[in-house]
Amino acid sequence: MTPLLGLAGAVRPGSCASTQEIARSLAREGAPEGTVVIAETQTAGRGRPRRGDAGARSWHSPPGLGLWMSFVLRPRLDTADWPALTAMTALALAKAIEGLHPAAPRWSCAIKWPNDLYGHRGKLAGILAETAGNAVVVGLGLNLALRAEDFPPELRKRATSLRLEGFDPVPTAEFAAAAMNERLTAAYLAFQNGDRDFLREGLRARFLLRGARVRVTWPGGGAEGTAVDVGSAGELILKTAEGPRALVAGEVTAWSRAGASHPDY
Ligand code: BTN
Repeated sequence: MTPLLGLAGAVRPGSCASTQEIARSLAREGAPEGTVVIAETQTAGRGRPRRGDAGARSWHSPPGLGLWMSFVLRPRLDTADWPALTAMTALALAKAIEGLHPAAPRWSCAIKWPNDLYGHRGKLAGILAETAGNAVVVGLGLNLALRAEDFPPELRKRATSLRLEGFDPVPTAEFAAAAMNERLTAAYLAFQNGDRDFLREGLRARFLLRGARVRVTWPGGGAEGTAVDVGSAGELILKTAEGPRALVAGEVTAWSRAGASHPDY
């Protein structure tokens, strides 16, 4: 398959504040779908803003140790479908990473709906999807070769990398980017063609929150309940005191299972 999303035309700033900011300005200037920005390091990488945070969270992006990348998409979709692009990208990244493990398919990661990827030792990667005019910019941060001491102390017990997960050799950023380009292209084409089954099945198979008590918030609202399933279009299905609810977007700000609680990353 010819990759639609273009590594060939990738913008490679070396060091930059944030690939997301570059991709968003390129998108506003009319950059075509498939424009990709990949940096060696980011000095002001951004994570998903959490409710209660004064601003965006920072994303630790040390030089040469991870994949820090943003894609410009111009979805030919109803805007109601746009929120699902976050989970779709998370699933594409999960499949890309799993395919890179030497023991594939025996290693798999879990997805904390809708945007976080977890390995066996903690958070491995995160997705940040934002609009820029009539484009969507999806950014991803994937920890590749970091050792425990490469993380800031507050993240050491909660974050992981492909190296810490036992990938040997650790894939290069270039290799991981190519795998991601291929998986995201396939997922995006299927999604644009109206296929949602792969999304539901892929998320179900990697459903980190299954059975957990969760609190989910979004601008102007929130819900609490038990995460029981993934809906037909990738929504999180919660069992709440008022009955089942299907959430299309939101931030899981707290979750706990069997007596263990997990602070947000
Ligand atoms: C999260 O889990 O909070 C999402 C993290 C997204 C980080 C990536 S790194 C590449 C792109 N540029 C940024 O500034 N952020 C995203």
